[in-house]
Amino acid sequence: MTVRGEVFGRLGDGRVVERHRLSNETVDLSLITWGAAVQSLLVPDRDGNLADAVLGFDDLESYVAHTEYFGAVVGRFANRIAGGRFEIDGEAFQIEVNDGSNALHGGQVGFDRHLWDAHPLGTDDGGGALRLSRVSAAGEMGFPGSLAVSVTYRLRGLDLEITYEATTDRPTVLNLTNHTYFNLAGAGSRSVETHELTIAAGSYLPVDAGAIPLGPAEPVEGTPMDFRDAKPIGRDLRAGTEQLRLAGGYDHTWILTREIAARVTKAAMVDEASSGRTLEVWTDQPGVQFYSGNFLDGTLSGKGARAYRQSDGFCLETQHFPDSPNQPSYPSTVLRPGDRFTSTTIWRFGTS
Ligand code: GLA
Repeated sequence: MTVRGEVFGRLGDGRVVERHRLSNETVDLSLITWGAAVQSLLVPDRDGNLADAVLGFDDLESYVAHTEYFGAVVGRFANRIAGGRFEIDGEAFQIEVNDGSNALHGGQVGFDRHLWDAHPLGTDDGGGALRLSRVSAAGEMGFPGSLAVSVTYRLRGLDLEITYEATTDRPTVLNLTNHTYFNLAGAGSRSVETHELTIAAGSYLPVDAGAIPLGPAEPVEGTPMDFRDAKPIGRDLRAGTEQLRLAGGYDHTWILTREIAARVTKAAMVDEASSGRTLEVWTDQPGVQFYSGNFLDGTLSGKGARAYRQSDGFCLETQHFPDSPNQPSYPSTVLRPGDRFTSTTIWRFGTS
């Protein structure tokens, strides 16, 4: 196992963005300190051939110029907050809006658009790890409280474990996830519509035209949202239901079915038949946002100058529910001084 750091690029103000590589016999992972992002992730197919299974860019300038959140950690509040407004203990807050009239992924300058500090970690269990940290100042994008936040990527065989931690000095809201777009056939090689997806969820959150949940969950049964049994992502993508039309495809939160809350359990499974690559997503979070890359429109060139077209990647963003600060019936996203937020998501690669 090795952990290596190098210069990935320089920001306009001269600050250096580093790239750190974590690798073992089977997996080769590159992380950049801009957005604490997964920049590349080479995983083997059934014959042991490596391919880069995540979308992204070769150069820092492209990351800075575009806001697709490729590989990035998003926060302080992943997903949407209606009107960018919420209250904590009766006090009102306004976050800068950046998605129509709503705040998305933490506002104009979210965690994906900041430089994080990198700390290579010891390898006590034979694994390699990188911890990335930053302090989100009180008032950043309008959020209350100074938030010390870190994300640790740890490679163990074919598992990539992602652990988030945060503390605050004032009550705040918090929702953290990683926004990697996967393509198990290889980034830029083809659409993900033939990938077979299973989501361990019997219900999901229908949304309005601004992608804000209407409130109550609806059963997936009898709808295109039913991924309880494996099916190709593309099978029902053109079913034309109101929910698929509103979002231009899948871009919804599934409510994970688990017997014991807060345990890390299997949330989703993806199988790509041509390569044999598989991905399981495990998490302790209550939901997963499955996004079918609806806004990729072929105008962006990613790694290796490959254009990314609609549905060339999918995201499985493990997280709390969108707009939780305004939905009292959803699990709370409030973090208070003295409490430590911790959360774990595991991406388990394999072959079939
Ligand atoms: C999330 C959102 C999508 C879209 C992408 C980024 O997945 O739910 O609507 O904004 O991020 O393009």
